[in-house]
Amino acid sequence: MRRILVTSALPYANGQIHLGHLVETIQTDIWVRFQKLKGHECLYFCADDTHGTPVMIRARQEGISPETLVERIHAEHLSDFQGFHIGFDNYYTTNSPENRLLSEEVYLNNRQAGNIRVSTVRQAYCEWDQMFLPDRFIRGNCPTCGAEDQYGDACEVCSGSHSPLDLKNPRCSLCGDTPVERDSEHYFFRLTAFETFLKEWIRSGAVQPEMANKLDEWFEAGLQDWDISRDGPYFGFEIPDAPGKYFYVWLDAPIGYMASCWEWCKRHGRDFDAIWRRDDLMEVYHFIGKDILYFHTLFWPATLRGAGFRTPTAVYTHGFLTVNGQKMSKSRGTFITARRYLELLDPEYLRYYYAAKLTARVDDLDLNLDDFILRVNSDLVGKVVNIASRSAGFIHKRFAGRLAENYPHDDGLHDQFVAAGEEIAAHYDAREFSKAMRAIMNLADLANRFVEAKAPWNLAKDPAKSDELRDTCTVAINLFRILMIYLQPVLPQLAEKCRDFLQLPPFGWESRLQPLYGQTIREFAHMMARVDPKKVESLVETVAPVVPPAFAAKPVVAKPATPAAAPVASPSVVTPSPAPPLGEPLDIETFGQVDLRVAKILAAEPVDGADKLLRLTLDVGELGHKTVFAGIRAAYAPETLPGRLTVLVANLKPRKMRFGVSEGMVLAAGSGGDQLFLLTPDLGAAPGMRIR
Ligand code: 2FM
Ligand code: ZN
Repeated sequence: MRRILVTSALPYANGQIHLGHLVETIQTDIWVRFQKLKGHECLYFCADDTHGTPVMIRARQEGISPETLVERIHAEHLSDFQGFHIGFDNYYTTNSPENRLLSEEVYLNNRQAGNIRVSTVRQAYCEWDQMFLPDRFIRGNCPTCGAEDQYGDACEVCSGSHSPLDLKNPRCSLCGDTPVERDSEHYFFRLTAFETFLKEWIRSGAVQPEMANKLDEWFEAGLQDWDISRDGPYFGFEIPDAPGKYFYVWLDAPIGYMASCWEWCKRHGRDFDAIWRRDDLMEVYHFIGKDILYFHTLFWPATLRGAGFRTPTAVYTHGFLTVNGQKMSKSRGTFITARRYLELLDPEYLRYYYAAKLTARVDDLDLNLDDFILRVNSDLVGKVVNIASRSAGFIHKRFAGRLAENYPHDDGLHDQFVAAGEEIAAHYDAREFSKAMRAIMNLADLANRFVEAKAPWNLAKDPAKSDELRDTCTVAINLFRILMIYLQPVLPQLAEKCRDFLQLPPFGWESRLQPLYGQTIREFAHMMARVDPKKVESLVETVAPVVPPAFAAKPVVAKPATPAAAPVASPSVVTPSPAPPLGEPLDIETFGQVDLRVAKILAAEPVDGADKLLRLTLDVGELGHKTVFAGIRAAYAPETLPGRLTVLVANLKPRKMRFGVSEGMVLAAGSGGDQLFLLTPDLGAAPGMRIR
């Protein structure tokens, strides 16, 4: 028996699981299920990757703690993965006591071994937000080609990379201010000291050949020491003996693989040290996407090695997902979340489709939706399930559910099916799933040919051919059963239905050897429906923009708004009325007259004599500063608002109120009172930006 430990990359805790993540988790899960089916010990660990600036900022924007945010996302991720039958042995979190201890140990062991050095680094700092800005939180003009609104590290127009300090007209993505430059001490891991070790590790077969070539390029370009620290405020683990400094998220993320394993070991009475401090107990494999190769094949083995832990047996890299030949895109509707898919379609369709396309190489995988429908319908429904549905009925109608008493003569088909298991297993083991699926479908074709040649529906008409009918159906059901054993890693739920139908104990790869006869099976129940093309269509429907009721009446700009779930400005919102039905439809030109802008709240103060209002001072970029009276006092403490971005209706006629003039409205959802929720644009928006 092999002992194997497997991981897939830890999804970030600031986003939803989508079909791109699932290429990897489905690939890994199939491989793990195959190993288990073969009788090996195979443990599958994963977790949420919780640390870093984006999680911290998102939590702040939602007005909750990062811990609360990552707990909520953890539950969502877990339920998405369960929906796709991903059978983790443990799905943990990097924000755990185990991960903190292990990260500290990895760091301290490396420090002890002389693998950490400290240097001063000059970086962009936002005085408003009081933080150093990660490259992705700075935008400005590309220093090479001048393109506007580019990230701090790379230009999407000229594809050049640059230092954030070289960006022209730089702005903080959070508040829009111009950052300043500041020095800070950083901790570096001496990656350069591990070049020889890494080259050996790679030569040992730890990566696919095409990835070894990529790594050669990196070696030629020269390794650089790795900055593993970030200044606070940062959501992460503080570095020992370095107050205010935190481990960069990529230091503790892969350690999360070990932490997930450790937590599982504690619950199962297993020896964590034997797994991670020796390299002879288990094989360790990481499944990853090609975008994170550098982290997993250079930093990760080197930090483990430097800390005295075992290094991975191999890292298996896959390509990206495209949908209908293009990168997933929100505007094309092809950014499909796991949730959305599960609302519409059977997860096993996708598992099969991915399996039919996955290889051991690093090629991208295209989810072509027409092909998806054809492939699933023709292979799974038309070929595999069909074998059983065409023969099981007769066993029930004619033989009270009892199969033939002996395994019938079948021209060697059963033997042929059993023998093919060797090749299919080799394909699975080598992660050549598409070859495995092809071999299985070839067998399915043979089984269907057998059924068609025997034509049980004709045999059934002739009482003299009753034995032949039972024999034929017995053979067909046996062949179906072997196919389902072979498909179990891909289609665990269908295999389970088959097992239940045949009244069998759990399958193992070797259970295929023993044919089935002289026993009773259950009545055949529907096993898998055809893919409904309409549902696939709705998978990629782009959501039509929703016009809020507030804008449904004309003239738009002059009407003081009253509805709930809409603009909050004048005191009228304080006593919300139920949302009115949409009035006459609004044409797009009319809607276009509404000037919606991103605004930064600079100040928020209570208003004397109006206990439901706050006076907001807003920075609206090129439109300057504006004062707005908003009925949100019951929902927001004034001190929580400054710095936050929201949405302003900027061209409302100014409204004279008892306490001053209100120069617009900010938008919020909810029923009023303390149930009001200010709208906030996504990261990257800056004051004054027009909303369209
Ligand atoms: O790229 C990503 O989505 C990372 N969250 C993957 C981390 S994998 C591991 F190292 F933790
Ligand atoms: Zn800022």
